[in-house]
Amino acid sequence: MPPMPSPPREGTAVTLRRAGGIATLWIDNPPVNAISARVIAGLAEGLDAFEADRSLTGLVIACAGRTFVAGGDITMFDQPGFTPRPFNALLARIEAQDRPVVAALFGTVLGGGLELALACHGRVADPATRLGLPEITLGLLPGSLGTQRLPRLAGYAAALRMISSGGMIGAEEALALGIVDALAPEVTGAARAALAGLPLRRVSGLTPPDDAAPVLEQARAAAAARPWLPALTELVPCLEAVARPWAEGAAVEEAAFLRLMASAPSRALRHVFLAERAAARVPGADAAPRPVAQMGVLGAGTMGGGIAMACANAGLPVTLVDASAAGLERGLSLIDAAYAAMVKRGRLTPEAAAKRRARISGTLDMAALGPADMVIEAVFEDMALKLSVARELGQVCKPGAIIATNTSTLDVDAIAAATGRPGDVLGTHFFSPAQIMRLLEVVRGRDTAPDTLATVMGLAKRIGKAAVVSGVCYGFIGNRMAEAYMRESEAMQLEGASPGQIDGVAESPDWIGMAMGPSRMLDMAGVDVGARTVIEWIKGGQGPQDPAYRILCRTMFETGAHGQKTGQGYYRYAGREALANPETQGLAARLAAEHHVAARAHADEEIFERLLFPMVNEAAAILAGGIANRPGDIDVVWTAGYGFPGWRGGPLFMADEIGLDRIVARLDHYAATFGNPYGYWTVTPLLRDLAARGQRLTRSAS
Ligand code: 3HC
Ligand code: NAI
Repeated sequence: MPPMPSPPREGTAVTLRRAGGIATLWIDNPPVNAISARVIAGLAEGLDAFEADRSLTGLVIACAGRTFVAGGDITMFDQPGFTPRPFNALLARIEAQDRPVVAALFGTVLGGGLELALACHGRVADPATRLGLPEITLGLLPGSLGTQRLPRLAGYAAALRMISSGGMIGAEEALALGIVDALAPEVTGAARAALAGLPLRRVSGLTPPDDAAPVLEQARAAAAARPWLPALTELVPCLEAVARPWAEGAAVEEAAFLRLMASAPSRALRHVFLAERAAARVPGADAAPRPVAQMGVLGAGTMGGGIAMACANAGLPVTLVDASAAGLERGLSLIDAAYAAMVKRGRLTPEAAAKRRARISGTLDMAALGPADMVIEAVFEDMALKLSVARELGQVCKPGAIIATNTSTLDVDAIAAATGRPGDVLGTHFFSPAQIMRLLEVVRGRDTAPDTLATVMGLAKRIGKAAVVSGVCYGFIGNRMAEAYMRESEAMQLEGASPGQIDGVAESPDWIGMAMGPSRMLDMAGVDVGARTVIEWIKGGQGPQDPAYRILCRTMFETGAHGQKTGQGYYRYAGREALANPETQGLAARLAAEHHVAARAHADEEIFERLLFPMVNEAAAILAGGIANRPGDIDVVWTAGYGFPGWRGGPLFMADEIGLDRIVARLDHYAATFGNPYGYWTVTPLLRDLAARGQRLTRSAS
C-alpha cells in the first residue's frame, strides 16, 4: 500500500498531493465543503498541476472534514452575475481527462457535490454515505448537469425521483442504481485502489436509457399538481433534453437554472434555509453547552408523551413521570399507539420502533428525575400547579440540571423564580404533535444562563427541531402573531364571511398557501384549548378589553363546540370531512347583532389582507420589543410551526415582496374603515419607518 496523502493544512481550499504515482485533490472548505469561487479556482489549479505531471497515473477527488461536497455555496447564488458556468466548465475538464479520476464519497453528497462526483470516471463511497439532489427544496434544479448526467447513469425514473423529491438515498441504494461503483469503509484508500485499470467512462457520453416516456408523463403530472413550484415545471424540458445532443441539454438546464435562481419561490426557500441556520446563532449564548445524556419529562399527556418520543427518537433515554397512575398509563399507551402507527405505515421497522420505545421508562416517582441532565415539565396549564411543580423540580433535579417548562402562555420568569435556580430554567415551547412538528420556541427568561440556552439550542438540533429563541411575552412569537390572524378571521365571520371562504383564501396558493386555514387549524387543535388561553389572557387584564374580542371562539367553548373532537366547531364533521356548520354561522350572526357588528361583503383580497397584514404588524412590534432576535427567526417560526409555505419565505419575507409601503397603506385604510378603538390597526412605528424608507424587514438581518 503506498503512503496515504494527508489532508491539506488549514487555510487552503484545495490542495493537490502526490503519493505513489497518484494525485489527490483535497477539498477543504468547512463546514460542508460547499463549492465556492475559491474551491473552483483551487480545483482548476490542481487540475493544471495534474495535467502537467504525466508521471501520475490517476486522480482522486477527496474532501477533508465531515463530508464530501454538500452542494454549491448557497450564499453565492445571490451575488450579482452568478452562473454555474465556471463550475460546469471545470466538470467538463475533469470528465475529459485521459487518466482515470475517482471521487471518494462520504457524509452527505448533495447537489453540486453529487454533480462533481458524476463528472468523475468512477465513484467509491463509504457505506454510511447519503446522496441526493436537494436543489428542489431551494426552489431550484441541479444546475451543474445533474439533470443530464443522472438520467444517463441511473435511468430517468431514479433521476426524477431524486430530483423532484430532493430526498437523500443511502449508499446501498446508490450502488444498486449504479450511481456509485463500490462501497468501502476507508474510502480514500479504496478510491486510489480503484484507479488501477479503471476505464474512462464518461457519463455525458452514455446513451440515455429507454424509460423516458412514462417518466416524462409523471414529471408533467407532478408539475401540473404544484404549479406554484416552477422548478417542477422547468424539470420537464430538462429531462426531455437528455435525448438531445449533450450541449443542447446542457443549455436547456443552464437556462432553467438561471430563471429559477431569480424566481420568487427560490429566493424565498433560500431565505428560509439560511434563516433556520441563522436562528441557531443566539446572541449572548456562545457559552460551552452542558452535557445532556439523560432526559426527564414531567407530565405524560399529549405534549409530555410527544416530547419523550422526540427525545427517544434521537437516541436519548427518557424518564417520563406523571402524578396519576391513570395519566401515566394513558400516556404510555398513546406512545405505544404512535409507534405502532409508524410501523403500520412502513415509516419504521418493528425493531427500530421497539428500540425507541425501550428508551422511555415511565414512573410515578418524581425522585426518578434526580439523575436527569434536563427535565421538561408538561403538566396542566395552571399557574399554581406549575409553580408548585417548579419548586419541587428545583429540589429534585441534580445541581446543573436544566429545568424547562413547556407552558404556552404562562410567565416563564415566575416559574423560573419558583425553582430557586432561575439560571437553569427556560421555556421549551413544543408544537403538537411534538414528535413530528419541527418548530421549537426556546423561551429565554430574564435570568436564563448563557450555557443553559446554548445547551438547549444544541439539544434542539440533536432532536431535529428548528429552534427559535423568543423573549417572554403572551403567546411568545408564534401564538402572539396568531392572535392577530385569529382575531381577523373571527371578526370577518361576525361580518358574515364563512370559515370556508376565509380558510379557502388562506390555503389558496394564489393568496398564501397555508397548510390549513385559521378555522380548520383551531378545530383540529381544539377550540377549547384556544379559547381557554384567550379567556385567561383577558381575565389577567393583559388581553384586549374589547367585549367582541374573539367572542365567537369564547362562546363556542361555552357551548361545547370544541372542534373535530366534538364533531362540531367552525365546521361540522362527518368523520374527518369538514362541512359547513349552520349552527356556528347562526351563532356568528347572533353575536354580530349583540355586538353591533355590521355585515360586509368580503372580496378575497380583503380576506387575504386582513389575515396577513395585522400579523406582519404584530411581528414588527415583536421585533421592536426585542422578543425575536431577527426577522428571519419569525419566518422560521411560521414555516416550521404553522404550515406557512416555505416557498413564500414566511410572513415577513412575503411582506417584503408585497412591499411594506402597501401594507402600511392598507393597515391605515382598515383603521379608517373600522375605526380603531382598540388599536388593532395602529401601525407599529418600526414598520411605518421601514416602509417610509423603502426598506425590507428581511434579508440583511437574516
Ligand atoms: N452552501 C453554503 N453553506 C452551507 C451549505 C451550502 N450548500 N450547506 C450547509 N451549509 C452551512 C450551513 O449554513 C451551516 O452554516 P453555519 O454553521 O454557519 O450556520 C453549516 O453549513 C452546517 O449546516 P447544518 O447546520 O445544516 O448542518 P447539518 O450537519 O445538520 O446538515 C447538510 C448538513 C445535510 C449538508 C445540510 O446543511 C444541507 O442539507 N445543506 C444543503 C445542501 C444543499 O441544498 N445542497 C444543494 C445546494 S444547490 C446546488 O448545489 C446547486 C448546484 O446544482 C449548481
Ligand atoms: P394534558 O392534559 O394532555 O397532560 C397533562 C399531564 O400532566 C396529565 O397526564 C396529568 O396527569 C399530568 N400532571 C398533572 N399534574 C401533574 C403533576 N403535579 N406531576 C406530574 N404530572 C402531572 O396537557 P398537554 O396538552 O400535554 O399540555 C401540557 C403543557 O403543554 C401545558 O402547559 C400546555 O399549555 C402546553 N402545551 C400544549 C400544547 C397542545 O397543543 N396541547 C401545545 C404547546 C404547549
